[in-house]
Amino acid sequence: MTRPDPRLFDAALVARGANLARLGNCVSCHQSAGERPYAGGYPIKTPFGTVYGSNITPDPETGIGKWSPAAFNRAMREGVGRDGSHLYPAFPYTHYANVTDSDLGALYAFLMTRPAVRVVPPANTMIPPLGVRPLLAGWKLLFFRPQPIAADPRQSAAWNRGRYIGETLAHCTACHSPRGLLQQEKRGPEAYDGGWLGGWYAPPINARSPAVRGWTADRLDAYFRTGLSTAHAAAAGPMGPVTYNLARATPADVRALATYYAWQMREAPAARVEPPLPDRRASASQRHPIGARLYEGACAVCHEPGAAMTVAGRPVLPLGTPLHEDNPRDTIQIILQGLHPPVSARGPYMPAYADALDDRQVAEIVAYLQARHGTGPAWKDLEKDVAKAREEGK
Ligand code: HEC
Ligand code: HEC
Ligand code: HEC
Repeated sequence: MTRPDPRLFDAALVARGANLARLGNCVSCHQSAGERPYAGGYPIKTPFGTVYGSNITPDPETGIGKWSPAAFNRAMREGVGRDGSHLYPAFPYTHYANVTDSDLGALYAFLMTRPAVRVVPPANTMIPPLGVRPLLAGWKLLFFRPQPIAADPRQSAAWNRGRYIGETLAHCTACHSPRGLLQQEKRGPEAYDGGWLGGWYAPPINARSPAVRGWTADRLDAYFRTGLSTAHAAAAGPMGPVTYNLARATPADVRALATYYAWQMREAPAARVEPPLPDRRASASQRHPIGARLYEGACAVCHEPGAAMTVAGRPVLPLGTPLHEDNPRDTIQIILQGLHPPVSARGPYMPAYADALDDRQVAEIVAYLQARHGTGPAWKDLEKDVAKAREEGK
């Protein structure tokens, strides 16, 4: 097959595909720094090595220009490459099995009308067992069990639409569910119980959500569309690009996602009763004097209640979920890596402290902040966790 003539695709179909690609966050894994969108090369680290997003622009030699719609659908739904080999499950095809034919057609039209980029992504550096393509057949046999998503007539159209997008293209469980030894996602009651990726922790977004403010549909809608919930915090780390893409998707679809995930978290503690925010400033300073001093010097100018940023409407620190999670990882990563401004809001950003503070200093600040504002069990071995966070975040 030769590359289809881009002029032959219907403009409305292409526009629909563009929206689906944003909901699916495809560009996050299919664009590397300094490269064109969809040209691939973004490294995805797994416990079995590093796999690079493919070039999915329509270049006939290095991209998918010669792929038929059937070959594209097979890759998306079954994780099989054009030459028949198995694709690594780092590509979330396990979620795409239930994407409708019509949506796959729109995605195909969208990709085939992008500028073709001639570039070969770096070679994967994978180790057994998951690094060997033929062995992936065994993995599929064990873990790839697509179950059709039937509409639930008891729920609203928005809820059903949100579930379809969230459980398929947007693959939210890929980060928010725990994984087993062979990287398979845990399903059933453990779905959305929180997961780990790239040195970050994606917290539970179900009844076990540790948030101290309930995630209502309105708050989720704002968080997805702007990267900031003023009742919580900004979307940090790998959640940043997710909201960056959702901010550019159709508002009704984003609202549908908000409807469905507010329902997922409807039984969470804060969805029932929002607790008062603890501020044990004096006792925390006494227990962690070094952390308190470092905080006063480096952080208070933006974060202390009454600082210009909070007066201008940005949430205070204890509203963010990281300080209430059962592990310190997100708090540490935010301090090490800083935070870019939320996608649609201009305003302050947070500098990265990886070079300015050593492991011990970061640990002191985190211990102080948790003692002052935290609501969960005290974190232990913080210094070790900072070292690990640095290593895994590279
Ligand atoms: C979490 C990262 C991630 C996301 C999100 C992602 N992909 Fe991929 N994709 C990959 C990786 C990694 C590969 C290569 C897998 C391999 O080499 O076995 C891949 C491969 C593919 C392939 C097969 C290409 C080939 O040359 O074999 C297609 C087609 C594709 N992706 C399309 C998409 C589309 C469309 C979306 C959005 C709906 C998407 N991907 C989202 C990581 C991702
Ligand atoms: C690439 C990984 C990744 C994907 C995909 C992802 N998330 Fe996240 N998400 C995270 C991480 C990491 C955090 C924690 C970031 C932080 O603390 O700011 C997070 C935070 C969140 C939060 C805030 C929770 C809280 O209490 O603060 C919500 C809500 C959320 N994600 C919903 C979703 C939904 C819905 C989807 C699918 C549309 C999704 N996420 C897809 C990684 C991901
Ligand atoms: C120049 C201003 C600035 C400085 C200095 C700063 N931050 Fe931030 N910080 C931000 C912004 C902006 C956000 C995003 C959330 C928002 O807009 O409310 C943020 C978010 C956070 C979050 C995640 C949100 C939450 O509520 O959990 C943590 C944790 C955090 N900062 C800790 C620190 C620590 C610790 C220091 C000092 C080492 C620091 N910050 C210094 C501006 C700053």
